[in-house]
Amino acid sequence: MKTPSLKESLSSTLETREIIRLENVFKIYGSGETEVQALAGVNLVIKKGEYCSIMGASGSGKSTAMNIIGCLDRPTSGRYYLDNVDVAKLDDTELAHIRNQKIGFVFQQFHLLPQLTALENVMLPMVYAGVKPKERHYRATEALKRVGLEKRLHNKPNQLSGGQQQRVAIARAIVNRPILLLADEPTGALDSRTTQEVLNIFSELNATGITVVMVTHEPDVARQTQRIIYFRDGKVIYSHLTADQLLELGSR
Ligand SMILES: Nc1ncnc2c1ncn2[C@@H]1O[C@H](COP(=O)(O)OP(=O)(O)OP(=O)(O)O)[C@@H](O)[C@H]1O
Ligand SMILES: [Mg+2]
Repeated sequence: MKTPSLKESLSSTLETREIIRLENVFKIYGSGETEVQALAGVNLVIKKGEYCSIMGASGSGKSTAMNIIGCLDRPTSGRYYLDNVDVAKLDDTELAHIRNQKIGFVFQQFHLLPQLTALENVMLPMVYAGVKPKERHYRATEALKRVGLEKRLHNKPNQLSGGQQQRVAIARAIVNRPILLLADEPTGALDSRTTQEVLNIFSELNATGITVVMVTHEPDVARQTQRIIYFRDGKVIYSHLTADQLLELGSR
């Protein structure tokens, strides 16, 4: 067998370090007069272990991009590779499987089920993943401990503060041990103290190797990530925004 050249082994190492690769991705909603081009040729690479934020004006395509990255939606055209797999080649069942296995989601409005306790909410994704009940209970408890909610296991969402509800949502997002955590404005509904608690948890998760990508409108939140990606009119116009550029954009 031929030994790979240094260049070949180097490029394959670099390749496997990518978790997200979007190539010329377009997303068009509707047709005819109601047609909206939400993404207009997005190119973006995110490596394993990165902690990124996505910024940009309302309507610039951030959530649309997150939905595609999270396999909740597919591009109209262009390519998306998730962990080096061409997502276009997967059918809906395979896509749902990958989503459940590799990705955790956190949203601005928590999306917890009101009739279930914190523990039951966190156990739910494992029901879909086919984890046995005893293991579900153990892993959900561990995930809730990890976000500092071991004393709130049996509370329902309306018996928890906003910050605590978001922590339950984070526990639910990480309970299947995803390699990628996606958060769309996770601190949008929180005050500054609870925002900081959530950001601390994201940093800790990132330190254990989980890639974190978060949409935010708040420069102070974005500054706490390692890399800021900036969208305008459905495109990435800065893939690594500097502190100076952030200040300049904020002052407009
Ligand atoms: N399901 C949909 N059907 C039609 N148009 C849509 C749909 N979802 C989003 N859009 C449009 O696509 C564009 C991008 O929307 P998107 O939600 O991605 O923006 P965003 O950057 O997340 O904005 P915000 O900061 O307000 O959350 C907008 O013009 C929006 O109106
Ligand atoms: Mg949005």
